[in-house]
Amino acid sequence: MPTPPPDPVAHLAQQLGEATLRDVVAAFYRRIPSDDLLGPMYPSHDLAGAERRLADFLVQRCGGSPRYSQTRGHPRLRMRHQPFRIDAHARDRWMALMTAALHEVELPDDARSALRAFLGDVATFLMNVPPGAP
Ligand code: HEM
Repeated sequence: MPTPPPDPVAHLAQQLGEATLRDVVAAFYRRIPSDDLLGPMYPSHDLAGAERRLADFLVQRCGGSPRYSQTRGHPRLRMRHQPFRIDAHARDRWMALMTAALHEVELPDDARSALRAFLGDVATFLMNVPPGAP
């Protein structure tokens, strides 16, 4: 049997502590309201709720508390992002804010790069506008 590829974020909730992952998401959401492209996409009346959903998702994905599934069910991220126009520009902006957040929080370099790679892969997977579409 071939060994499955290692999952570099699988144990980060234990290694870093769930609070550290939540700090990253909080640093990301602090940047959202003033962002001209992403700010209008997010619910201004429920940014705290949006922050909790992403934080719960990340904590669960990194091996921590299963609260995301308990409160939201299956992530179905492609479906849940369908209402938003995510082209390469939106993906790159999301990653720029997230990269800044990852640098605001004190993290070991390998954890920072593992998180950045994971989040970047998901962000690309969530793009829902064909290249060149108006
Ligand atoms: C590519 C650029 C992205 C854009 C423009 C975007 C935008 C949004 C918006 C506007 C929401 C609604 C906020 C809310 O009320 O919860 C949302 C929700 C969410 N996003 Fe993203 N997102 C992006 C990438 C990502 C990535 C990379 C992840 C995960 C690694 C992610 C995970 C989530 C989750 C877990 C929710 C809440 C889903 C739910 O339970 O309803 N998003 N996103």
